[in-house]
Amino acid sequence: MRLKDKGIIVTGGASGIGEATIRRAVAEGARAVIADMNAEAGEALAAELGDEKARFVRVDVTRSEDVAALFREAADFCGVDGVFNNAGVGGLCPAVDYTDEDWQHIIDINLSGVFKVAREAMRHMQEHGGSIVNCASILGHLGQSETAAYTAAKGGVLNLTRTLALEGAAKGIRVSSISPGYIKTPLLEVLDQETLDFLTDLHPVGRLGRPEEVANAAVFLMSDEASFITGADLLVDGGFAAGKS
Ligand code: NAI
Repeated sequence: MRLKDKGIIVTGGASGIGEATIRRAVAEGARAVIADMNAEAGEALAAELGDEKARFVRVDVTRSEDVAALFREAADFCGVDGVFNNAGVGGLCPAVDYTDEDWQHIIDINLSGVFKVAREAMRHMQEHGGSIVNCASILGHLGQSETAAYTAAKGGVLNLTRTLALEGAAKGIRVSSISPGYIKTPLLEVLDQETLDFLTDLHPVGRLGRPEEVANAAVFLMSDEASFITGADLLVDGGFAAGKS
């Protein structure tokens, strides 16, 4: 089992890619903390997996005090060996129509939230090391109309990952990122069928990804099998980027 006896935190763990990662991590022997704003879904998942294996902690990743409390509780419940820094939001808007608030909302969650969680993770991993996996996106590598804040945040996550990897290396703290292509999760529910068909065609494999396919990558990067991987980004995109580079 890849994560036997490891303690794992997954932000955004109550839905989509995060939920799939919680399920896979527990199946691989981890004890896991589901960290999310959505208490109803998070509590239900924790109850399904059982008290011994999973605990829900309500957290807003934009709030440093929530993040600190999350790590204190996780340290007590399971220890902090791996963190999947995955909470994020989407949103489509032409750049000229963005309000300051809309811009800030996405940057706060998708970039500053990732930093706040990674910072706290590194504080907790100073003595024994660990693995932090940040969720970026194919849109961290490529531009796309009407996603100015999202693409800026995800591009930021890629380079933040490299810098944190350099700072953590001597302490045995690995920091890497995953860049999913379009994955069929609730994040895409706002899109109409025409848009989904267009997005599907962007993937040479001819389909959207499944949350489990990103979860597999996250679990691998948090496991000791990835012991020489740090500062790297892993594309999980059905070949999307291959035709663009
Ligand atoms: P999702 O909408 O299914 O799940 C996101 C989770 O994050 C939800 O449970 C939500 O409650 C939680 N969340 C949102 N704001 C939060 C906050 N401030 N504090 C704590 N939790 C918060 O989305 P999905 O698709 O699973 O996305 C997960 C990550 O994957 C995101 O970072 C997203 O940007 C990234 N991603 C998703 C892609 C897709 O096509 N679904 C493509 C590339 C990247």
